[in-house]
Amino acid sequence: MVFATFLTPLFILKYNDDIKNGDLTEMTYKNLKALSNFLPAYIFNVESFMEKSRNVKKLLGEVDICFSVKSNPWLIEYADVFSKVEVCSPGELEICINKGIAPERIIMGGICQTAENFQKAVEYGVKRYSIESERQLDLLRNACFNAAFEAAVLLRLSNKNQFGMSKEQAREIFSKQAELTNIIIDGIHFYPGTGRMKKITLTKDFDYLISMLDELDSFKIRCLEIGSGVGVDLFGESDNHDLIAIVSEYLKILKNKYEVTYEGGRIFAAECGIYIAEIKEIRKNDDRIYYIVNGGKHQFSYYGQMFSSGKPTVTVISKTPFDKTMTVNIVGALCNEGDVLVKEIELPEAREGDFLVFHKVGAYSVTEGISLFLSRDLPSVIIERECEFYLQREKTEIHKLNMRRGKERRIGGI
Ligand SMILES: Cc1ncc(COP(=O)(O)O)c(C=O)c1O
Repeated sequence: MVFATFLTPLFILKYNDDIKNGDLTEMTYKNLKALSNFLPAYIFNVESFMEKSRNVKKLLGEVDICFSVKSNPWLIEYADVFSKVEVCSPGELEICINKGIAPERIIMGGICQTAENFQKAVEYGVKRYSIESERQLDLLRNACFNAAFEAAVLLRLSNKNQFGMSKEQAREIFSKQAELTNIIIDGIHFYPGTGRMKKITLTKDFDYLISMLDELDSFKIRCLEIGSGVGVDLFGESDNHDLIAIVSEYLKILKNKYEVTYEGGRIFAAECGIYIAEIKEIRKNDDRIYYIVNGGKHQFSYYGQMFSSGKPTVTVISKTPFDKTMTVNIVGALCNEGDVLVKEIELPEAREGDFLVFHKVGAYSVTEGISLFLSRDLPSVIIERECEFYLQREKTEIHKLNMRRGKERRIGGI
């Protein structure tokens, strides 16, 4: 079992023997104590995000990279190493505009587009679009026509799911290129799926893409925007370099023919984030020990954690050095039996007022926690009573919750 402690800077946790040094634990505890009014909290380490992104770019063979805003909108201000950012909803576009992301760096896509979405993007000057259907193409074309604007379009090929279009539909659009005013069909977009942990899945995805590209070979395809959803070991310490190596091999082949951009989120951001909550109560019911924290399962999610398929790394930050370890259950503040953050995990014996740090929540957790994902509006809530509908809550804009408003405020430090 590994314990961890904070080294400088505070939020980079290092797994080594330093943890056995009680002084370091105590120092960390004091620093966290000063933050306790702000807990539970997500903390994203900017340096770690930047370094990871640079390293992955290197491992991918120095291909251009594109950061998916959906994985963590709070990091886009620090995405300098990415030549582009991928935007998939009106809310995400608003965040980019607010954060001054240049329109030339944005590629806009997404499954459910409206005329207004495209109009807004065109007004902002976004030039590149991933288009999933003929309908989307018409909407974009209208928006461009009205604004006397020219857009570059990548046709998104489907991986046999609801996203994108078939190669036949792509072929049809390619062959109409000459009639398309205000639109240049510039290439292909392909994103097969997320959380890929198996080499064979990646290989199949790329082989499928290549077979489709071969069939479209008679058309002018200048660039490719590809994701492969390389997964991250969220519950262990193994790296994913073997998976990245496979992607890199394919990218090398594709780079011979196309201008390639690699698009992703988790692979860059997962490891830079932690979630911290305070243990408010320790309870023993029968022979089970519960650490009750002032957070909850609704505030963070690990890929697959919902099905108890793995245990995240959790660090106890305590006032005093630990005597022993024990098997505990970490539960949250929701009045819900299912609000179990981690089931039966071996942790140091903590005290009330100690802190728990959950690792690798840099991607998705902050938005995927049930209600804030993708910065789309919250749905309205309607009651049906005696064949009448009663509105309980209007559709509610939430994108403002996913960005800082005004100047940042320093709340502590090491
Ligand atoms: C189109 C598209 N691109 C990129 C991503 C990012 O994927 P990942 O975080 O798995 O790299 C997603 C995730 O769903 C996506 O839908």
